[in-house]
Amino acid sequence: MVSLDDFEPLAQRLIAKPAYDYFAGGVEDEVTLSENRTAFQRIRLRPRVMVDVGQRDLTTTVLGHRVSMPLLLAPTGHQKMAHPDAELATARAAHAAGTIATFGCAAHYGIEEITAVSPGPIWFQLYAYDSRPVTERIIRRAEEAGCQALVITVDGSYASRRWRNLRNQFALPPGVEVRNLVGVGMRDDLLRDDLSGYPAFLSSLRTLNLTWADLEWMRALTKLPILLKGILTVDDARLAVEHGVEGIIVSNHGARQIDTTAPTIEVLPAIAEAVGGRIEVLVDGGIRRGTDVLKALALGAKAAMIGRPYVWGLAVGGEAGVRQVLELLRTEIDNALAQLGRSSVANIDRSLVLLPGETPH
Ligand SMILES: Cc1cc2nc3c(=O)[nH]c(=O)nc-3n(C[C@H](O)[C@H](O)[C@H](O)COP(=O)(O)O)c2cc1C
Repeated sequence: MVSLDDFEPLAQRLIAKPAYDYFAGGVEDEVTLSENRTAFQRIRLRPRVMVDVGQRDLTTTVLGHRVSMPLLLAPTGHQKMAHPDAELATARAAHAAGTIATFGCAAHYGIEEITAVSPGPIWFQLYAYDSRPVTERIIRRAEEAGCQALVITVDGSYASRRWRNLRNQFALPPGVEVRNLVGVGMRDDLLRDDLSGYPAFLSSLRTLNLTWADLEWMRALTKLPILLKGILTVDDARLAVEHGVEGIIVSNHGARQIDTTAPTIEVLPAIAEAVGGRIEVLVDGGIRRGTDVLKALALGAKAAMIGRPYVWGLAVGGEAGVRQVLELLRTEIDNALAQLGRSSVANIDRSLVLLPGETPH
């Protein structure tokens, strides 16, 4: 395993095709899925030389938490299809690596089962379901479990047309549950002891179609810091700031909701500039290299997040596989700092990169 790309083909051999396609796929033609990667490859780096970078510091803070590197784990659903230890393995690996993982409504394990195996910090990702009382119960459960922030996904209220899933007639396999959605006031009556009622339970779930008014309600409801995940425009970033959230995640949901949106790294600079440091800006989508992480920081992100890469690590080796992915990225970030003549992630700035069309200087 010398690069993150080495994990996916191995994972593909180990898991069922519909599960692989669910993890790997994007929406429709998957144009944005590939552009999330190529957009990073088009950004040029500007190494400085003859700088003493013998000591390098990868640490930073995100929402006040010290992390060992500027790389966090984005929420990914149904990890049990990759490995039986699922979110428990991911949570342990993130803690061991000194970073933050996010789990949410599409996790197999309940959030209190996850926080019980890892001191965290752990963030809870929320899809709003059914009604405000149900959504409030989900939030309270995350608070009681000890989660340290609420990541509200704002681009997932409506199901998207992912062709791979449609062609596979994808459905969750038996034994893959959504425990955070049980016991919060939805159709628990459909569930049976042998789990045979799960398909009926799943098809009974209805999302609440979020608006800014719902965010105001949630803001008043919880003291947890809130991050909005799925911001792609300056307009919405400004609204997020006005609504008093602590952070945003510039994200196109790993190109899984609507195709031909801009790759996230392209919209990040304008959004970060508009936010102007008032709240924290994170980014995800296509981050696969240490240099991608540094490019994200140079363009205004406090930290970057990964989705698919750690799912492949999980499929390949459970907790150890996720750790391997994280340690590989740590090695790459550290090496990139040295090659670029920068001693710490804290002093990465815009001078690190040239965007397409910019004149080298
Ligand atoms: C298999 C899979 C499941 C996902 N599930 C969720 C989810 O439940 N909630 C959410 O907010 N985002 C979800 N995402 C989006 C990720 O949080 C993240 O935005 C995306 O994976 C980042 O892109 P990358 O996979 O290229 O790193 C999912 C992504 C994948 C690949």
